[in-house]
Amino acid sequence: MQLTLEDLQARPAAYRRDLINTLPGPRGVHLIGTKGYKGTENLAVFSSVVHVGASPPLLGFIMRPLTVPRHTYHHIKANQWFTLNTLHPDILEAAHQTSANYAIKDSEFAATGLTPQYSDRCKAPYVKESRVKIGLTLEEEHHIGGNGTLFLIGRVQEIFVPDEAVAESGHVDHQLLRTLTVAGLDTYQRTTDPVRLSYARPGNKR
Ligand SMILES: Cc1cc2nc3c(=O)[nH]c(=O)nc-3n(C[C@H](O)[C@H](O)[C@H](O)COP(=O)(O)O)c2cc1C
Repeated sequence: MQLTLEDLQARPAAYRRDLINTLPGPRGVHLIGTKGYKGTENLAVFSSVVHVGASPPLLGFIMRPLTVPRHTYHHIKANQWFTLNTLHPDILEAAHQTSANYAIKDSEFAATGLTPQYSDRCKAPYVKESRVKIGLTLEEEHHIGGNGTLFLIGRVQEIFVPDEAVAESGHVDHQLLRTLTVAGLDTYQRTTDPVRLSYARPGNKR
């Protein structure tokens, strides 16, 4: 199959969304936990979390345009803290359900049966059932001119990972944790058969 931008624009919106969203391949998928200024807890699934840098530890994600109320965004702006929580098969249905458009007064924790969990430090709720939990504070916000989305960057303030999943080197074993990835908005996938290579240098031949 071969398409130009013009061909793509002639296709129905749903087709464009699913093609472009699945085209680059599976991505990480996380539940973002937040708390509003009135104390309402909120949870939503996001597939756009990226590594921004390790020193300082920064992670970012894309927020859809603010054409309708985006609870995750408003809560982060109000309280500055948010959490990233990974998915595994036992919580998949509940995690996916958090993408439904609940009223701001309704907690997705209560609606899906996932359990809010707090640390002493973080002002946003973690997902107790998740295996990797990351607490962050809002660092920067960038407006994307091309489509009105926002790129939010958070600074990692604390992490929780099961001991057995972290190697001496610092690598996290996501196969052991059964961490899921996602292609597009609906196709969740397991991470299997990782292949770890040595640091590539010019002249290395394979
Ligand atoms: C698999 C999946 C990935 C998603 N990724 C994103 C994303 O990266 N950015 C975004 O703004 N919305 C994303 N969404 C949509 C949000 O989950 C959805 O808009 C949710 O209702 C937001 O909740 P909130 O208004 O409580 O923040 C995704 C939905 C699904 C099902």
